[in-house]
Amino acid sequence: MENMIYLDHASSSPLRSEVWESMSAVIGVADFNAASLHACGRQAQETLERARADIAKVVGASRGEVFFTSGGTASDNVAVLGFIRRRLSDNPRIVTSAIEHKAVMLAARQAATEGAGLEILPVDEHGQVDPAALDRVLAAGSSRPTLVSIMWANNEVGTIQPIAELVEVAHRHGATFHTDAVQGFGKLDMRHETAPVDLLTATAHKLGGPVGIGVLVCRRGTCLEPLVYGGTQERGVWPGTQNPIGAVGFAKALELCVAEQDVHVPHFLSMRETLETRFLEEIPNVVVHACGAAQRLPNVLSIGIPACDQATTLVALDMAGVAISSGSACSSGATTGSHVLEAMGLGSEEDYTVLRLSFGPHTSDQEIQTAGDAVIAAVAGARATLAN
Ligand SMILES: Cc1ncc(COP(=O)(O)O)c(C=O)c1O
Repeated sequence: MENMIYLDHASSSPLRSEVWESMSAVIGVADFNAASLHACGRQAQETLERARADIAKVVGASRGEVFFTSGGTASDNVAVLGFIRRRLSDNPRIVTSAIEHKAVMLAARQAATEGAGLEILPVDEHGQVDPAALDRVLAAGSSRPTLVSIMWANNEVGTIQPIAELVEVAHRHGATFHTDAVQGFGKLDMRHETAPVDLLTATAHKLGGPVGIGVLVCRRGTCLEPLVYGGTQERGVWPGTQNPIGAVGFAKALELCVAEQDVHVPHFLSMRETLETRFLEEIPNVVVHACGAAQRLPNVLSIGIPACDQATTLVALDMAGVAISSGSACSSGATTGSHVLEAMGLGSEEDYTVLRLSFGPHTSDQEIQTAGDAVIAAVAGARATLAN
């Protein structure tokens, strides 16, 4: 929307013009059924496979290890439930963290109702999982087929987990490792040699690609039961007519993100630092979430403001033309208490307002200045209303 300062890229980052152009360029070429045997279908198939190869290259996978799905939620569900259902007769278990996105958390709970064991690892006050805690849990019950599912970076507070270390622990115990990499994809180094995860979830719309397409990277030898049944597309992992145009958009968005990392990451860090410093100076009692984490997403800043009504603050910001989320928006758009903050031991008091500001490639320093003013004014107004 014009005139709106959009600081909600962790929810969805608007489609980039270069991505739109790349998708428009394959209209008439790739908008056919990629499973059809005629020339049009083959053309669509070739376009799809090129996009798959481009995405595979970024994570150091082979083309055959990248499965297109309808997004992050689908990929998370296929990874968690697909792993467990395939091994139900062998007493499987899932080990996950207390701060996962609901796509993993609820899939894991569903797996538990179907007979899997479920262990939930706690996090510290900065949202970090302790590899030693994973080690202890895995040591008890090593003979069971185990899926460890721990997100690479948290969507609410931005904490980045020590994924390489966690993968090493999991593999030492013979467990399979899944990571929901939705928030860090394209921003962090996710090559296989950096952290050899077995299953990785990503989605296009967090990096300026189209909504409705994601991938599950599934390393050779990791067998999954399909969740939906139909054709043989995506080798049965996610059947249904494929989306070559969406795949082209995803590959282009990822290409741009990776190519621009060296420019954007320092800019994200400086914008985050500017806002953080201002908020700490100008909002009494503000809490910067995950500020003590060893690593945090550069483009996400989450703050907590005690004695401040959340709805009043968000409405004031919306009226001031600043799009910010509470960080725990549920699927209907309403806000609920955050299981992430709860796990970090925060946000339990009444009227604890949470604001998550997340930047994108075109966020400017001027916008950060204006948004900072708006947040400070909105909080002061909401606090004054509450006091009266
Ligand atoms: C960490 C994380 N995982 C999964 C998802 C779900 O992805 P999608 O919207 O593509 O289904 C999101 C989206 O908010 C997310 O932030």
